[in-house]
Amino acid sequence: MKNIVEVQNVKKYFPIKTNMFSSFNLGKRNYKKVLDGVSLLIPEGRVSVLVGESGSGKTTLARIILRATDPDSGSIIFDGNDITKKAGQDLRNFRKQAQMIHQDPYSSLNPLMKVFDIIKEPIDIFYKQYSKEQRIKKILTVLDEVYLKPSSEFAEKYPHMLSGGERQRVAIARSLVIEPKLIIADEPVSMLDVSIRAQILDILRQLSIKRKITIFYITHDLITSRYIGDEISVMYAGNIVETGPINEILSNPLHPYTQGLLDAVSEPKFENIDKEKIIRIKNFDSIASESGCKFINKCPYSMDICKNEPKLKRIEKNHNVSCFIYDKK
Ligand SMILES: Nc1ncnc2c1ncn2[C@@H]1O[C@H](COP(=O)(O)OP(=O)(O)OP(=O)(O)O)[C@@H](O)[C@H]1O
Ligand SMILES: [Mg+2]
Repeated sequence: MKNIVEVQNVKKYFPIKTNMFSSFNLGKRNYKKVLDGVSLLIPEGRVSVLVGESGSGKTTLARIILRATDPDSGSIIFDGNDITKKAGQDLRNFRKQAQMIHQDPYSSLNPLMKVFDIIKEPIDIFYKQYSKEQRIKKILTVLDEVYLKPSSEFAEKYPHMLSGGERQRVAIARSLVIEPKLIIADEPVSMLDVSIRAQILDILRQLSIKRKITIFYITHDLITSRYIGDEISVMYAGNIVETGPINEILSNPLHPYTQGLLDAVSEPKFENIDKEKIIRIKNFDSIASESGCKFINKCPYSMDICKNEPKLKRIEKNHNVSCFIYDKK
């Protein structure tokens, strides 16, 4: 299986602003390790999920993959090319191939523009050679594809005339119109009514099947990820702690953090999980450790060795976990 994206050991530390209170802590760290050596493969034409709690670094990773932010170190390989340092025309060519859909469908569309012009904008930037007729045809086709029908009517509407779900579909149509290879959807349904979440996820899923577009779906919600995903990576405090096929991970979670995430889920579909694999996270409010295993303060199985930094290891075919419990004795 070809990987459209390879994230290689990416680090991003953000400085913590000092104030009169933090001056008492002089000499202590003054940065936050938001991504602390993240490596990740996104296979082409599939739906990969990145799951993790708020603040774990998901959006930062997405922004780095899209070159909206530079990493401090590490590389991003896109379709076989290292794009980490690309600039000028090379960067523009890359931008045409990778798109982002944001969480908030209310602020991501220009309220003063009609749907037609919102979708036309990226064509004007990336496909200048298109004739007027070609542009109109493309815009109506993508509107059909996200089920905003009749497309000629929706094209004439302004964002305030649309529901949240319809706006999110316009956002998808807008990213689709330049025929990207990758769409990163960062919590695309979390602000929408539960009843329409499935529609949006279905549309994304269909794009991966019909158009072979790779979808990287970011969420903190395991239930929706099960609905849409092929593979999943679990992130905790700037590290990937477990990756693998989604059905495998959700029925046989190995990392204590993943097992703890499943504790919060009560869904009939999850009933084939071995109940012993579900644990209760300790010290729920404690913060992630700065060194060694970041999960040590919350882990019911923590051992002395966990003061060292665990590495992702393959346990079974395609199932990797970063936890000392699985070290060969
Ligand atoms: N530009 C920045 N400057 C300083 N700190 C930042 C910056 N961007 C993100 N952070 C910090 O990095 C951490 C991770 O942020 P990020 O937005 O990547 O998390 P997330 O996993 O997407 O969370 P959520 O689920 O809430 O969207 C947070 O603690 C955040 O405050
Ligand atoms: Mg985020």
